[in-house]
Amino acid sequence: MSTPTPHNAAVKGDIAESILLPGDPLRAKFIAENYLENVKCYNTVRNMNGYTGTYKGKPVSVQGTGMGVSSIGIYSYELIHFYGCKKLIRVGTAGSYQEHLKIGDIVFAMGACTDTNYASQYEFKGTYAPIASWNLLYKAVEFANSKGFKNTVGNVFTSEIFYNGSNPHKKWMEMNVLAVEMEAAALYMNAAAAKVDALAIVTISDSLVTQEETTSDVREKSFTNMMEIALEVV
Ligand code: HPA
Repeated sequence: MSTPTPHNAAVKGDIAESILLPGDPLRAKFIAENYLENVKCYNTVRNMNGYTGTYKGKPVSVQGTGMGVSSIGIYSYELIHFYGCKKLIRVGTAGSYQEHLKIGDIVFAMGACTDTNYASQYEFKGTYAPIASWNLLYKAVEFANSKGFKNTVGNVFTSEIFYNGSNPHKKWMEMNVLAVEMEAAALYMNAAAAKVDALAIVTISDSLVTQEETTSDVREKSFTNMMEIALEVV
């Protein structure tokens, strides 16, 4: 295991043990520029920006992961195994599956169902249940509540497909899954396999129930409550 990797120009030591993982590299830049001090950009390979700085004196990194399990699977694996990351928090967006979850609401993914075959690499004889780190989840919920940020804890669905030829959503909605996104399950499995802590925090950006949407500019620049939670607990 050596650094740099084909996807990351950082060398070991450039990246903090605690790291935020937005899908969008421009959101990584936004977080670094608006929340971190003494910031150094350690990666621009594929424009998948990564930065290390400090938050309230604590070293924290932030790395774009791209979209989907394949992409976050690569970045999070390298961060854990090649760069020594121990606490990884995805900060992303998700589509609401439940009427009571509105645009801007925060969801903590306690578990992540998936239609991907990511778990097949481990050759289980049954079904693996990807879950959040209890330690990070507990602290995140406690902090969110102390700030009065509306939040819901439960299952999300990590989907392989954004533009579906069929409608896979109804069954997950009926099973009380809260929202759909595309990365949490892979992050949880990579973290579990390496016995490190991971959490996915998502903000609702659109609704599969009401078809409401937000713009990409709002996606990139807003959702600051979720970022504050992640920075506080990571
Ligand atoms: N589907 C999948 N991933 C998403 C969505 C969605 O509707 N919204 C935000 N991430």
